[in-house]
Amino acid sequence: MKPIKVMLVFGTRPEAIKMAPLVLELKSRPEFECIVCVTAQHREMLDGVLSCFSIVPDYDLDIMQSGQTLSDITSRVLDALGGVLRKEVPDLVLVHGDTTTAFAGALCAFYERIPVGHVEAGLRTFDRYSPFPEEMNRCMIGRLAEYHFAPTAQNAQNLKNENTTDNVFITGNTVIDAMKYTVGDGTFSNPVLKNIDFDSHRVITMTCHRRENYGEPMEGIFRTVKRLAETFNDVLFVYPVHLSPYVSETAQKHLGSVSNICLIEPLDAMEMHRLMSKSFFVMTDSGGLQEEAPALGKPVLVLRRETERPEAVQAGTVQLAGVDEDQVYKLAYKLLTDNSMYDRMAKAVNPYGDGRACSRISEAILFSFGVSNRRPEDFHP
Ligand code: UD1
Ligand code: UDP
Repeated sequence: MKPIKVMLVFGTRPEAIKMAPLVLELKSRPEFECIVCVTAQHREMLDGVLSCFSIVPDYDLDIMQSGQTLSDITSRVLDALGGVLRKEVPDLVLVHGDTTTAFAGALCAFYERIPVGHVEAGLRTFDRYSPFPEEMNRCMIGRLAEYHFAPTAQNAQNLKNENTTDNVFITGNTVIDAMKYTVGDGTFSNPVLKNIDFDSHRVITMTCHRRENYGEPMEGIFRTVKRLAETFNDVLFVYPVHLSPYVSETAQKHLGSVSNICLIEPLDAMEMHRLMSKSFFVMTDSGGLQEEAPALGKPVLVLRRETERPEAVQAGTVQLAGVDEDQVYKLAYKLLTDNSMYDRMAKAVNPYGDGRACSRISEAILFSFGVSNRRPEDFHP
């Protein structure tokens, strides 16, 4: 029988990390022909992930421009992807999550009347401007897609509440599958990380990059981090700074000259996961880190007003710190000084997956395309 031709379209670092194990799974199964098309919405940060997982794309649209706007990304993906889709005519296009690559990829596939499968479907904050533009990207992809791979039961319920009930599969998040490849023995090759004495410092891994935090929220977060670093001499902040010019300039301005704040280049996925696994806790506005750190037993303070990932908040390992300077300072201060709060939060929980999401997604595709009559069992934490 002819294999099902599946094209995965992705372009940013987080999509690549979460799609990589799915590429490897689909390529290992004879029922699929797997084609990888990267938009390269991110260039260096994407390439780092591809090389970590030894993935060589079949198509590279190479669309990134410095300081690109959302319209730039959308129009450049639409322009470049249509021809690839018309040439390959895949049976299914898979996109991931909430980026503009994912939205434009799904829209372009729809224009070519090719069915779309949405990996990491159903996450919602219910605030169209936060995260911006990701919340609306996710909603629009949900309307365009015919197959929905929801990480958790709550995500599937969100889709149901919007009357999306057909072809919804609860799979777990593929990020937990990815971590099977990355955490390893915890050794570093990065020269800065290699020289950190994790026994004499409490290392806080931090990241901050979201568009809705640009401006005063991000400036306030950085002022707070500086204040914390000055209060706690034994704490070392390690911040791999996103390559966005706005973010790197703002980080440099506020944090560049503080001795116990280490601003470094973005890390590859292996080093990043290892850094988190050796850290005391994590402060971040990232989506992915909110899923990874709980799996590693690390408390997380989320530097955002809301989250589309409430499961780890409910489990007690993640707290929404917001972006108010005093509130973030107080919460971080408490976590650094209150052992019982720390112990309550530092427990490994895994509401997001069991490492078998990619296998469930593959089986769900076989089931949906009538190749198998066995629907994969839902993921339960
Ligand atoms: C994008 C996603 C966001 C995701 C984030 C992950 C959208 C709208 N946003 O936001 O959901 O959380 O990626 O990191 O899709 N740059 C480089 N090299 C790189 C990557 C970025 O130089 O490898 C610089 C470029 O100047 C680029 C800028 O960063 O213009 C911003 O990148 P962009 O993808 O537009 O936005 P992100 O904030 O990264
Ligand atoms: N990450 C990485 N190197 C870094 C910072 C983050 O590999 O220097 C990984 C992180 O472990 C997670 C993903 O990138 O898997 C999250 O990406 P990001 O925070 O850029 O985007 P978001 O998840 O917020 O969309």
